[in-house]
Amino acid sequence: MASRPEPPRRHRAHSRAALLGLAGSALLVACGLRPEADEFKPTASFQDIMAQVVDPAADGLWEAVGTVTTAAGHQELAPHSDEEWAALRGHAVRLVEASNLLLIPGRPIVAAGLRVEDAHVPGINNADEIARAIAADRAKFVAAVHRLHAAGTAALVAVDRRDTQQLLLAGDALDKACEGCHASYWYPGAAPPPRIGPPLQSTATADAPAARR
Ligand code: HEC
Repeated sequence: MASRPEPPRRHRAHSRAALLGLAGSALLVACGLRPEADEFKPTASFQDIMAQVVDPAADGLWEAVGTVTTAAGHQELAPHSDEEWAALRGHAVRLVEASNLLLIPGRPIVAAGLRVEDAHVPGINNADEIARAIAADRAKFVAAVHRLHAAGTAALVAVDRRDTQQLLLAGDALDKACEGCHASYWYPGAAPPPRIGPPLQSTATADAPAARR
């Protein structure tokens, strides 16, 4: 019949429209999944996140397990009550998610007017040097952050299982994650700082150096 050619044309037009629609929705999905950098409002500095979130949370985990050696002898530390385990869970959660905070673009290394601790010492980077090192190889920085995430996740799993031995191992991995990143970005040319050892050799923490690890 004379009108035979019509359906195929309509079909083609329909396909094109469908394709366009598909491309459009793929674009929307892509936009929805990939947050724009300007959705974030990084306010605290990298230094603040370290001092206020990462360091206290790590200390909370490190101090909960291990052996404390005092004049009176050795004492094995372990959480006992539900409350103690719940507090440890909070520390692990803060560590795990702090890693994401470190990845938010546009976060300053230090707040205006402040300095990186010990930046005047040769071999220790100042804020600009740290920012440049991070920008120079973003993938390397992300890997260092993800080691923190992995160690924090191991701690979270150990806490949820109430497994003191696993928590000790996670604490060790955590120590390496901190030290590895600090050695790359903070004090790449400095001798390793005196530090509290991994929890396996943990000693009384009261007189231990607080900041560099
Ligand atoms: C991905 C990299 C990275 C990881 C992982 C990391 N840090 Fe840091 N941290 C830094 C950098 C860079 C600095 C120095 C620059 C600054 O202070 O902003 C710093 C500084 C610090 C400071 C000094 C803050 C101050 O008040 O000057 C402390 C304390 C600290 N980190 C603790 C830790 C602990 C504890 C861990 C592990 C649980 C850790 N950090 C893991 C990169 C990291």
